[in-house]
This record gives sequence, C-alpha cells and structure tokens, in this order.
Amino acid sequence: MKSTDPELINPLRNAAMQAASHAYCKYSEFSVGAALVSDAGKIYAGCNVENISYGLTNCAERTAIFSAVADGVKPGEIRTLVFYMPGNKLYTPCGACRQVMAEFMEPESIVIATCDTEETKTWKLSDLLPEGFQF
Ligand code: THU
Repeated sequence: MKSTDPELINPLRNAAMQAASHAYCKYSEFSVGAALVSDAGKIYAGCNVENISYGLTNCAERTAIFSAVADGVKPGEIRTLVFYMPGNKLYTPCGACRQVMAEFMEPESIVIATCDTEETKTWKLSDLLPEGFQF
C-alpha cells in the first residue's frame, strides 16, 4: 500500500469540502467534492458539475483527477484521493470514477470517503475496482 502522510488527510478533506461548496448540482442538489495530492505534493480539488442532459454530469472525483492531469500530473503520480459527500453516512465512489482512478492511480493507492461526521472509510483502489477494464 502506498503510504499516505496522515497529516495530509485533513487538508485533503478540507479541500474536498471547500470544492463541494462550488458544486454545480442544480438537478440532484447533492454537492460532492474531491481532493487528491500529487507525488509533487500539490493538492488538486474538484466538484461535481451537472448538466441539463444528465448523462453529461462530471463527478467530483473525475473533476479533481482531470484538473491534476491538466496541470501535468502523470499516471501513477496520485497516491491519495479523498472525497466528501454531504450527510451523515459514508458513500462509495461511482463506477465511472473508479475506472478513471484506475487510469491515473496505482492499484495500491488510497481512496478515502468522508461525510459530515468524523467517520471515514478507506479503501485500496484495487479493492474498489477489482478486475477493472484493461487492454
Ligand atoms: N457524484 C459524484 O460527484 N461522485 C460520485 O462518485 C457519485 C456521484 C455526483 C454526480 C451527481 O452530480 C450527484 O453526485 C448525484 O449523483
């Protein structure tokens, strides 16, 4: 398992919550945020961006990953991604986001769910997406 500095978890959670405050979610009214740290130590955040043509919606996790890629982060250079979904229960990331995570994060990378309680849930990406699509 790639090690994650435990001191990074709170800043990532805060960045995810801050990003969630920018969510464009007029259809679901479900504000999601995600934040990741690159191997260079830079934090990238994203929110969900919905569309009137619902299928065009981009989830928060993918927004954060695409933002990192647009800044030059390469596959394998993301070791930890934290997402925040509102409410008192912990959710799991959608399947599309898991497949995109698998494109840019190593199987041993860490994904952490957070919500409005102090509870968190941590997975290895390979546990979230066993046997993901590959050529
Ligand atoms: N959503 C995310 O941002 N991430 C996920 O992993 C699951 C769902 C968003 C998409 C949509 O804007 C809203 O949550 C409700 O599905």
